[in-house]
Amino acid sequence: MGLRGRDLLAVGDLSSEELMALLERAEEFKRGSEPGTPLTRRSIALIFLRPSNRTRVSFEAAIARLGGHPIALFDREIEMGRRESVGDVGRILDGFVDGLVARIPSERDLRGLARAMRSPVINAMTDLGHPCQILADCLTVREQLGHLEGARVTFVGDGNNVCNSWIEAAQVAGIDLRVVTPAGYEPAPAVLQAAGQLRGVGGRVLVTNDLGQGLAGTDVIYTDVWTSMGQEEQHEDRRQDFGPYQVNERVLERAPEGARVMHCLPAHRGEEITDAVIDGPQSIVFDQAQNRYWLQLALLAEVFGPAGAEG
Ligand code: CP
Ligand code: NVA
Repeated sequence: MGLRGRDLLAVGDLSSEELMALLERAEEFKRGSEPGTPLTRRSIALIFLRPSNRTRVSFEAAIARLGGHPIALFDREIEMGRRESVGDVGRILDGFVDGLVARIPSERDLRGLARAMRSPVINAMTDLGHPCQILADCLTVREQLGHLEGARVTFVGDGNNVCNSWIEAAQVAGIDLRVVTPAGYEPAPAVLQAAGQLRGVGGRVLVTNDLGQGLAGTDVIYTDVWTSMGQEEQHEDRRQDFGPYQVNERVLERAPEGARVMHCLPAHRGEEITDAVIDGPQSIVFDQAQNRYWLQLALLAEVFGPAGAEG
């Protein structure tokens, strides 16, 4: 069907064929294929209600590379939901720009914006999901292992937005995902249930509190912060609860020798991951971050590019 003109609000919006086509396009661009300038004379708004380094800069750079004009908006300017309603923000932007990239805590507000706009809306992270991150991570896993289907990925940490998007990706792309969390921090049952209904190759998702079980035979050890944006007041409790789940050298010793280490960043060094691991030979964290650009270049080209053969 192609992604042209569509929203990308979750990994599960994609079929497995669409996901693989997106990864292939990103790989082509990374190898030097010319993306052209399908965004010429077009503007894309970017709403960031939370801080960002990678997501904002990689999106802005990719929009500029495709000939478009990015307009970044922050909470202090639009005060969405306070100065005016979410729906009104969307209706007004829709008249000025050709698309929206939005990092908004509330999934409901993101979907409200998408309903208010005819132009495509891309999720740049909510409290529920981080699809662009995980699509780029799928690119990295495929690049590293030579395949995505059947890849064994062990997510160690909080059952958070990043974890939720991995759960969807597992189902869509046929990944063998192991989610290892402390008790009480497992992904929400509703997320697991909804992912089980997605179209896709059908992956395997194991949720466990047992690190050893999650690490057995794995290809990738993946972690994220214990305290996500917006949870700062829980920081001390979380440091206590997550302590045994730190990705450190002892954890690497329990995993297969060739296992790669990934982290979406920003890292809280010394909490969920040690310096020795993130800067060590098994870490592919910084290559992983660069793939945000290539994936988003491909995504923007697909969503805003000229129609393909199917029209
Ligand atoms: N990984 C990620 O989304 O990073 P930023 O918060 O810096 O955009
Ligand atoms: N789980 C983290 C991801 C940051 C990219 C957060 O929501 O803050």
